[in-house]
Parts: sequence; C-alpha cells; structure tokens
Amino acid sequence: MYINEIPVIAIDGPSASGKGTIAQLVAKNLGFHYLDSGALYRLVALKTVQSCADIQNQDSLATIARNLNVIFKNETIYLDDDIVTDAIRTEECGILASQLAAYPQIRAALVERQREFRQPPGLVTDGRDMGSVIFPSAILKIFLTASAEIRAQRRYKQLMEKGINANIADLLHDIQKRDERDSNRSVAPLQQGTDAKLLDTTALTISQAQDAVLSWYNEFRAKNSRLNTK
Ligand code: DC
Repeated sequence: MYINEIPVIAIDGPSASGKGTIAQLVAKNLGFHYLDSGALYRLVALKTVQSCADIQNQDSLATIARNLNVIFKNETIYLDDDIVTDAIRTEECGILASQLAAYPQIRAALVERQREFRQPPGLVTDGRDMGSVIFPSAILKIFLTASAEIRAQRRYKQLMEKGINANIADLLHDIQKRDERDSNRSVAPLQQGTDAKLLDTTALTISQAQDAVLSWYNEFRAKNSRLNTK
C-alpha cells in the first residue's frame, strides 16, 4: 500500500471543542491509529519549561521539538521515560503550547514526526492544521467546533471531575484568547478549509458527533467502491 493510499481522517478545530474525544472514538471504532497533534506542541512546551529554555530563542526551541524523546503507548505518554499524560493537560501548558506553536521553526520540526503516524489500516488525527498542512491528502477533513461558552462549560466539567478547581469566566477568557492566537498566526492558522466539512457540536452529544463523522466516512467509502467497480 502506498503511503498516500492509507486513509486519513483529519479533524481540526479550536481548543476544547471535543475533537480529541471524537477522534479517539472514531479511531477505536474503525480500528485506526490515532494522533493527538496538540499533545506534541504541549510536550514541546513542557520540555521547554523543564529545560528552562529561552522562549524567545526559536533555534533552541526547534532543537527541543526535533529531539523530543516521546513514546505514545496506549493512552499513556512518556517524555524521557517519565509519564507526562496529565502534566501536559494543564491550562498553563496549553497556553505555552499555543504561544510556541506560532513559531514556524517549531512547526517545521514536528512535520515528519506527525506524518510517521500514517500507518495501515488508517489514521484519525486531530489538531489545527491536520487537513491543511500535515495531511492535505486526507480523505475526510472535518472542522469541528462549538460555541466558546459551551467549550468553557465542558472544560470546567472535565476539570471538576478530575478534582481540579476552576472558574468558568477565566476558562472562557483563556479559550477566547487561545482561539484568537491560533486563528490569527501567520503560519498554519486555525481555519475551516474550503474542502473541510463543518461539524458544530454545540447542540450535539458525543455519540451524535461520532456518528456524523462515521457516516461521512462510510459515504466516502461507498462512493469510492462504486468508482473502483466501474
Ligand atoms: O489541541 P490542544 O489544545 O491540545 O493544542 C494545544 C496548542 O497547540 C493549541 O492551542 C495550538 C497548538 N496546536 C497547533 O498549533 N497545531 C496543531 N496541529 C495542534 C495544536
């Protein structure tokens, strides 16, 4: 199988839109691999803090990104042999990740690492530029979003369930600032591509959102098999 024949479902969208949850469920359902590209930016942010690197120095940050010693094993993430699955999920880490993600050299350093996840029988991936930059040949591109208010409420519930104290107004403010930065940067900004389908989950349950993605994928497969038998 040529690399470009391995199907990719690319789900892009803003912070806390639920794209990670949906992407993981779809991957499980189809038996595909899964790449959480945001985790890579968060890992660069964590490593930057751990190594006290200068956050203005793009060269040294790109070196950190290129040399990240990371292993994704089931749902656990290891950085230099330490488990960092929860450590990279903090708001602070997300905010620094969003700042560092605006640097072109850091983005470039992570391109090949992301493409390596394209393995048979297929890949479901989520992020900001999966359909536009990393996997332009993805068979299904989705822009998954929800209102900022609903996203803040979902994030609040998630944090509360983990026993982490949070404030909805602060979360909403952070989400809006992150949206602005991720959407307005000059390299690979977050935006709905003309070839991406819009999935607004503001009024949808997780299972309805998952079904929407699966039915688009099945539509694609049905169309393709008709083409192949002609
Ligand atoms: O999806 P997330 O919130 O875990 O991502 C953290 C930050 O990483 C996000 O604010 C922007 C950046 N990011 C990116 O620029 N490109 C991606 N493909 C994924 C994440």
